[in-house]
Amino acid sequence: MHFTINGQSHQAEVDIRTSLLDLLREHLSLTGSKKGCDHGQCGACTVLVNGRRINACLTLAVMHQDDDIVTIEGLGRPGDLHPLQDAFVRHDGFQCGYCTPGQICSAVAVLDEIKRGVPSHVQADVSAKPQVTNMELRERMSGNICRCGAYSNIADAMAEVAGA
Ligand code: FES
Ligand code: FES
Repeated sequence: MHFTINGQSHQAEVDIRTSLLDLLREHLSLTGSKKGCDHGQCGACTVLVNGRRINACLTLAVMHQDDDIVTIEGLGRPGDLHPLQDAFVRHDGFQCGYCTPGQICSAVAVLDEIKRGVPSHVQADVSAKPQVTNMELRERMSGNICRCGAYSNIADAMAEVAGA
């Protein structure tokens, strides 16, 4: 199979049942995406596919051969951090760091969703443009679990990057 991940081409000969997460971690050594639950409960495996966040553990790699896949490794690097990575560091948005790659990939997509006007469950008026409020960020990030409980600092980091 052929994939485009973080702007680079990758070939892999894998079982047709391989999840996108296992492809990344076990076959391409892109171990930034984490496996917390392996069944869509924790968000640690969140990656961006064609600009949208998905749980890589819940989708088959074979379905994404024509897609543009971005993992935490593609967002930034030491010395050249993505603004959200930088904000997470400054706001103490993590402790053990296990959930962090998924949190950051999800946060990138959340800020884009708000900018595009995608409504959320906590909006009083779903036809209005969503605002970057604490409740809005918490609701949209609710699929990303952090056992260390860094939620408040994650929301602060996101609010800063969103200019709120
Ligand atoms: S590992 Fe995919 S949601 Fe938990
Ligand atoms: S920083 Fe430890 S689980 Fe989130």
